[in-house]
Amino acid sequence: MKWVKTPAEVHAVVAELRCEGKRVGLVPTMGALHEGHLSLVRLARSRADLVVVSVFVNPKQFGPGEDYTRYPREIDRDSEVLASNGCDVLFAPSVECMYSVSDRTRIHVTDLSEPLCGESRPGHFDGVALVVAKLFNIVRPDVAVFGQKDAQQAVIIQRMTADLDYPIRIVIGPTVREPDGLAMSSRNSFLSGDERKRAMALFGALGEARRMITSGERDAVKIRAAMHRVMTEAGIDVEYADVVEGATMKPKDRIEGTLLLAVAGRLGGTRLIDNMALRIDGDEIGEVVLEFPEWSMYDS
Ligand code: PAF
Repeated sequence: MKWVKTPAEVHAVVAELRCEGKRVGLVPTMGALHEGHLSLVRLARSRADLVVVSVFVNPKQFGPGEDYTRYPREIDRDSEVLASNGCDVLFAPSVECMYSVSDRTRIHVTDLSEPLCGESRPGHFDGVALVVAKLFNIVRPDVAVFGQKDAQQAVIIQRMTADLDYPIRIVIGPTVREPDGLAMSSRNSFLSGDERKRAMALFGALGEARRMITSGERDAVKIRAAMHRVMTEAGIDVEYADVVEGATMKPKDRIEGTLLLAVAGRLGGTRLIDNMALRIDGDEIGEVVLEFPEWSMYDS
C-alpha cells in the first residue's frame, strides 16, 4: 500500500495507474476506522481495480463547540488496518494541504441539507459537500463508496454528483452493526459503559418503528412518537426521531414508498445518529440503501 500526503502526490499516483486502464475506487473517511469502514473498502474493491482511501478529519464540517479537536485520530493504526484490507493508496493530507487560508468557495446542496442533522448542525453538509467535491477532483475516481449509516449525507452527495456532472458512480454500503444492534461509529469510543448500554435504544427505536409498520401502522405521527418514546425511556436526549421521504428528506405523513426512519440523540457529550431505509410496496416491506444511480449520468 502507498501512503501519500499531498493532493499533488495522490493525483499523480492515480493518474499513472489510470493510464494503465485501471478503474479507480475512492472511499472517503475521517479515520478511526472500524468494521463499517472496512466493509466500504471491500465494496470498493469489488467495483474497482485500484482502491484509494482518504483519511482526513475535515474541519469545515464541524461547527463551533462540536467535537473537531477530540475526534479520534489513529492514523498509524488506520494505515495498518487498511494495508491488510485491500487498500492500495492511503491519502492522508494535512489541513494546510487541503485548504488555502484564502479559500472562498462553498458548495450548498439546497433543501436536502436543511432538515434532520442540518437543523442542529448548520453548515455541516456544506463542509461535507466541499471536501467530497475536492476529493473527487483530486482523485478522479470512477466509483466512490459511502455508508448508509450517514444516510442524509449519502443522498446529498448523490445529488451533488449528479448536479455537478461528476462522471462518478456512487455506491452506498449497508450499515454495519455491533451484535446488539448499535451502528458502528468512530464516536462510539466516547461512550461510558452505561451510555454504551443505553445507546442500543437508537436501534431499538428503529426496530419498534419497523415492527409497527410491519403490523400495518401507516400513520407517521404515531411512528415518530414511538421512536421518541423508546429513546427517551433509555435516557437519550432526543434531537430528532423522524420519518422522511428517502429521495427528498421531506417529512412523510403516510408510511408508503421509499422512506427513511432517522434518529439522532445525545448521551452525555456524545451525539449519535442512526437510520433505517425501508421500501414499502403494499404488504411488502424491505430494508434498502438509499442509492439512486438513475440521478447520475454515469451508469456503469
Ligand atoms: O462520513 C464521513 O466520514 C465524512 O463526512 C466524509 C464523507 C469522509 C467527509 O469528510
